[in-house]
Amino acid sequence: MDILAAGGNAVDAAIAVAASLGVVEPYAAGIGGGGFWLIYNASENKYRFIDARETAPKAAHRDYYLKDGKPDRDRSINGPSAAAIPGQPAAFAYLSQRYGLLSLPQVLAPAIEQARTGFEVDARYQKLANFRLHHMRRYPVTAEIFLDDNQVPAVGHRIVQPELATTLELLAKQGKAGFYQGALANTLVEAVQANGGDWTLEDLANYQVVEREPIVFEYDEHTIISAPPPSSGGIALAQMLGMLDAYQQQTGTDWRQLDKVAQAHLLAEVMRRAYRDRAEFLGDPDFYQVPVDKLLSEQRAADYAASIDANKASVSLDMQGPANLHEGRHTTHLSVLDKYGNRVSATLSINLPFGSAFTVAGVVLNNEMDDFSLAPGVPNSYGLVGAEANAIAAGKRPLSSMTPTMIESCDQVAVLGAPGGSRIITQVLLGTLAHLQNEPVEQWVSQPRFHHQYLPDRIQIEPDTFNSSEINRLNTIGHEVRSVGRQYGNMQAILWDIQQGKVTAASDPRGVGAAEVLSVPQLNIR
Ligand code: GLY
Repeated sequence: MDILAAGGNAVDAAIAVAASLGVVEPYAAGIGGGGFWLIYNASENKYRFIDARETAPKAAHRDYYLKDGKPDRDRSINGPSAAAIPGQPAAFAYLSQRYGLLSLPQVLAPAIEQARTGFEVDARYQKLANFRLHHMRRYPVTAEIFLDDNQVPAVGHRIVQPELATTLELLAKQGKAGFYQGALANTLVEAVQANGGDWTLEDLANYQVVEREPIVFEYDEHTIISAPPPSSGGIALAQMLGMLDAYQQQTGTDWRQLDKVAQAHLLAEVMRRAYRDRAEFLGDPDFYQVPVDKLLSEQRAADYAASIDANKASVSLDMQGPANLHEGRHTTHLSVLDKYGNRVSATLSINLPFGSAFTVAGVVLNNEMDDFSLAPGVPNSYGLVGAEANAIAAGKRPLSSMTPTMIESCDQVAVLGAPGGSRIITQVLLGTLAHLQNEPVEQWVSQPRFHHQYLPDRIQIEPDTFNSSEINRLNTIGHEVRSVGRQYGNMQAILWDIQQGKVTAASDPRGVGAAEVLSVPQLNIR
């Protein structure tokens, strides 16, 4: 809000928020990670998608994590061997220069100040530090900054990050080169190599963000704009809505008219099918020709819709696809709309809480390498083969589920997205469906969630999503239903009703975020 008040636009504000989140949510995202930025740039009336996903270092290859033919998950999850080359610092510099109004030092100033003065530990921090405690203790620099005498800090304990402040200052002053070249790059590479990783100065110097065409599709008089590969989100969202449309055409059944259980069954079936394709066909488009046209074709939606039985769950293993999915409780999301109508939907990640648990120069390095299919051709933990599309290669971006999204109709604009690993895409689907039913924005973010990701072959739910009789009905038609034992996700959403001249915004009650509306965009302002 300060950045907007100082004359910044939505992009400036989004960079400032992202940088601050990297300080006060060190478990979720930061300059040691990457992300996807979906931007609507009002001055050119154009959507832009900035891919700041991390890249595999040059030393990485298809079998990089195999030990005696099996994935060595410790190396792909913990320590600098798990870290891909970060994209976030390059994104800040690129976005500020191309699309911001303020300077990079201006937009990074609040985060630098917060790193220096510190923030207080809360219950969420404790939970996530506890989850990664064992591995944070393995790396003394991490333990020194983020633990208290090697223990999860008490609520109210202050985390100060002077090294991160210095690193952010270097980025602010020198732009991209301040992070990817020179003294800081040397420090990063030395620390990574001394601790089992393989980064080189060349890897850092070669990192580039990529502007890509977003996935754009129509559903029910709405235009949906979302994340293209190397995210699987936009394609899966388009496939799921395409199947609902085809199912309606084939059977006359509108998902909106179904009771809660019948609707959950139908949605679980479309989720299952989209995630099946995700596992087989999605990867970095610069390395693998993702068959986007085939995946988004009416024929595929029709075939998949025709394979859905209204009274019986399908069996994922009968669909003969690979699987390499795992859940996550990490990542972060922000949504911004400014008075000019510019808007940003950004999902940012270091992968697991506290990323690789390795910190250098105040930067918590990601463990995004684990988002690759670690062993294509080798049975994974579900006993199936992983996908070639997402096999590891030098310079390649690991497949992501991050799904920053916007939805336009003739009189409304929605901005939404969420963290949550493989459950991001279904959260965005449920949020989108709530919007299509004219639910208020608070409902999109707070509604109980459920998820199906093809394998494991079950509907995953939050503890209160369905009551026991609803679960019984789902069991009767063949669905295994299992509570994940906690609430998940953290959606941040905005709805601008252009006709009514009204903006509403909501932050998921599951998280510690906040939503605020200062004013309504004036359409004639540019
Ligand atoms: N690391 C989570 C994702 O990109 O999907």
